[in-house]
Amino acid sequence: MKTPLIIAVDGPAASGKGTIAARLATTYGLPHLDTGLLYRAVGMGLLDRGGALEDAALAGTVAAALDVSDLSDTERLTSRGAGEAASRVAGYPGVRAALLEFQRTFAAQTSGSVLDGRDIGTVIAPHATAKLFVTATPEVRARRRWLQLTGRGEAIAYEEMLADIIRRDERDAGRGAAPMIQADDAVLLDTTDMDIETAFDAARRIVEAARVRHGL
Ligand code: C5P
Repeated sequence: MKTPLIIAVDGPAASGKGTIAARLATTYGLPHLDTGLLYRAVGMGLLDRGGALEDAALAGTVAAALDVSDLSDTERLTSRGAGEAASRVAGYPGVRAALLEFQRTFAAQTSGSVLDGRDIGTVIAPHATAKLFVTATPEVRARRRWLQLTGRGEAIAYEEMLADIIRRDERDAGRGAAPMIQADDAVLLDTTDMDIETAFDAARRIVEAARVRHGL
């Protein structure tokens, strides 16, 4: 059987990893999973049930009951509030455990796969063919996210966005359960001074080099 091409794309918020992962998926004809949406759906599901973000047990229950239909309202799930809720519930080991199987099964499809998140190269798909860790300075990421959110009518100041990004980075990198960290064998891609075309080209070259290494 042909060895599947599995691409793991990790990195902090607004680094460009989501766009890069989606474009890699199109280029190689692979299914793509934005794993951040899972945590966002758990955070919003918890709030919808009237739960508090401190309620780890209820968050775990919501995660265990998560259904793909909960991922369909991407407009709501990509809001600022959902991002904040996601990073709170993502720290609970019970939530991460409940979402693990789904992600691992997605990654292991015989067709191959592309997943983006924080722990794809370290926990979900440690045997991925190609691993990228996409980053950029907090200021550049805050500006990108600010343009995106204000562009669709969310009222927020750039300074608030920057504070959000820095707080989220600290929470994601500092938690005990599957912290955001570059895998030893991941290639770092700093998109600070790149537009999306340049960043995508660089990402594709990283994947091509990995394919050659793996004889794919
Ligand atoms: O990538 P995105 O910004 O949509 O992720 C939202 C939040 O979900 C992150 O800040 C992080 O706390 C959490 N997350 C995670 N592990 C992943 C993907 C997202 O902890 N694989």
